[in-house]
Amino acid sequence: MCGIIGYIGNKKAAPLLLGGLRRLEYRGYDSAGIAVVEKRGEAKVFKSVGKIDFLCGVIGENLPEGNRGIAHTRWATHGGVTVANAHPHFDCEENIFLVHNGIIENYRELKENLLKEGHKFRSETDTEILVHLIEKFFNGDLEHAVIKALKEIRGTYGIIVLDKRNPDKLVVARNSSPIIIGVGDNEFIVASDASAILEHTKEIVYLNDGEMAVISPSGIEFTNLSREKLAKKTETLEWNIEEAQRGGYPHFMLKEIMEQPEYLKNSIAGRLIKEEGLAKLGGLESVENGLDEIEKLIIVGCGTAYLSGAVGEYMIEEYAGLPAEVELASEFRYRKPILGKKTAALFISQSGETADTLAALQEVKRKGILTLGIVNAVGSTISRETEAGVYNHIGPEIGVASTKAFTSQLIILSLLTLFFGRQRQMSLVMGKRIAEEISKIPELVRQVLDKTDSIKNLAEKYYKYSNFLYVGRKYNYPVALEGALKLKEISYIHAEGYGAGEMKHGPIALIDKNFPTFGIAPSDSVYEKMISNLEEIKARGGPILAVATEGNEKIKKIIEDVIYIPKTLEMLTPILSVIPLQLFAYYCAVLRGLDVDKPRNLAKSVTVE
Ligand code: G6P
Repeated sequence: MCGIIGYIGNKKAAPLLLGGLRRLEYRGYDSAGIAVVEKRGEAKVFKSVGKIDFLCGVIGENLPEGNRGIAHTRWATHGGVTVANAHPHFDCEENIFLVHNGIIENYRELKENLLKEGHKFRSETDTEILVHLIEKFFNGDLEHAVIKALKEIRGTYGIIVLDKRNPDKLVVARNSSPIIIGVGDNEFIVASDASAILEHTKEIVYLNDGEMAVISPSGIEFTNLSREKLAKKTETLEWNIEEAQRGGYPHFMLKEIMEQPEYLKNSIAGRLIKEEGLAKLGGLESVENGLDEIEKLIIVGCGTAYLSGAVGEYMIEEYAGLPAEVELASEFRYRKPILGKKTAALFISQSGETADTLAALQEVKRKGILTLGIVNAVGSTISRETEAGVYNHIGPEIGVASTKAFTSQLIILSLLTLFFGRQRQMSLVMGKRIAEEISKIPELVRQVLDKTDSIKNLAEKYYKYSNFLYVGRKYNYPVALEGALKLKEISYIHAEGYGAGEMKHGPIALIDKNFPTFGIAPSDSVYEKMISNLEEIKARGGPILAVATEGNEKIKKIIEDVIYIPKTLEMLTPILSVIPLQLFAYYCAVLRGLDVDKPRNLAKSVTVE
């Protein structure tokens, strides 16, 4: 995700801002930029693609002297990795400078209108429309113009705005993208996370959604978007820089688990038209017409990405009516698949660099098949080599064990299901229902995360076992595999995932009082079958934990340890049911004293075969 920083005070802004950008590097970025006001009416802007060092190279001897400025590290979402797309963005007259973290969903419509009104655009970004809107509404009062502009947009933002004509204030606002203000001695530092602030001050104020701050050298005025004043308290932050980068969480993995509601919102942003029951996927527009002719979809990935594809296979077949098959990239690349002309292949990869997935993609391209991607890392090889695709928009995943990428891949697969389904036989009523349920998912995930303490308690009860079986059926069969994968990769507890219906063909022989089973048993179309399987385990003395749907009290008669998830559409249950499994694996590993973010023998991005 992008990193933003702003400074107003007595020191030279540029060195401080560049130092702050380096602290934000861990968030991942592909370009960076800085704007500093030298004196009233005069600003210097520098941008570059690549590392902060390159930006410093561009600045060279011209390090600005001024003591007000803003800076940004960009992780591309809308528009390629170019100097023009790097922030800060500015208005036609180069008076107002802005940095933004987030996504503006309705930027296309707004841009069209602004172009008609004569605004000159220099980038392909969603962000640039915001600075032109501020210019449009500016009548001498920057706060007023910012508020009017923010009322026009839909989406998420953390912004800092600086006007070179009146450089004695920074205007800051937030909706769903973090903003923290550091309060120093006659100086203020604004940033998207505390790691860029802590070396200057530990006194901070958190901005909440819907709030804005007007910061001048003499103080801060907090208001809401109706300009009603707000009283806010300064807090003392005791984190060190590393803790701040992890958002105060002890591990990146936990941060990535706990922030899934926000990431999911970003993956959905601007992509659902609820009233029409449609998914709007900009990255597929170029091939949209060809896609309605497709008669088969092959889904390819490795590890967790493969498992999200396995859920996608069920979704796409059941709701889109499109035959789908999921394949492990490492196997697929050496097979001789029979690919008809009307087959498309979908490659799923968080990093966009996994060697086997890439090799499978290259092989399929040689056969002349349409290739699509679900990729998180913008500009990565797989994103470039596929003809069209959908980005996750969730920022880089740092924990080696994939968590937020999995749930984001699932939500994008559900958007794709809606997209393919509505191109085919799916009714408007069903389309609207799916769109409505998708839009509720981030909040439902938040509700599951509220149960973190009870999941931690279960981990305390079970972490000393040496073996685990995970079972599920239909949509939750791949979730059982993912739960087992999470546990084994970070806690080194031997865990197997199985389709519950396969138990009698072998694994049930393992069950005894020392071999617990995790059953994924939401109230779905295969619930009764799942319960029979869990009864069979119980009859053999195996301890059982289960994930079940809220309101199912009956299950407690059979199973002692139940974690409830809210009700949703059957095809979306994996996004909720996997959360307790992620947390369970996490706490088991922590209790075993292991390095959760960097498990032994594993790499985040597997770029060799
Ligand atoms: C590695 C990672 C996994 C990931 C897999 C595929 O094994 O540790 O978390 O699921 O690679 O990676 P990709 O970047 O292609 O999604």
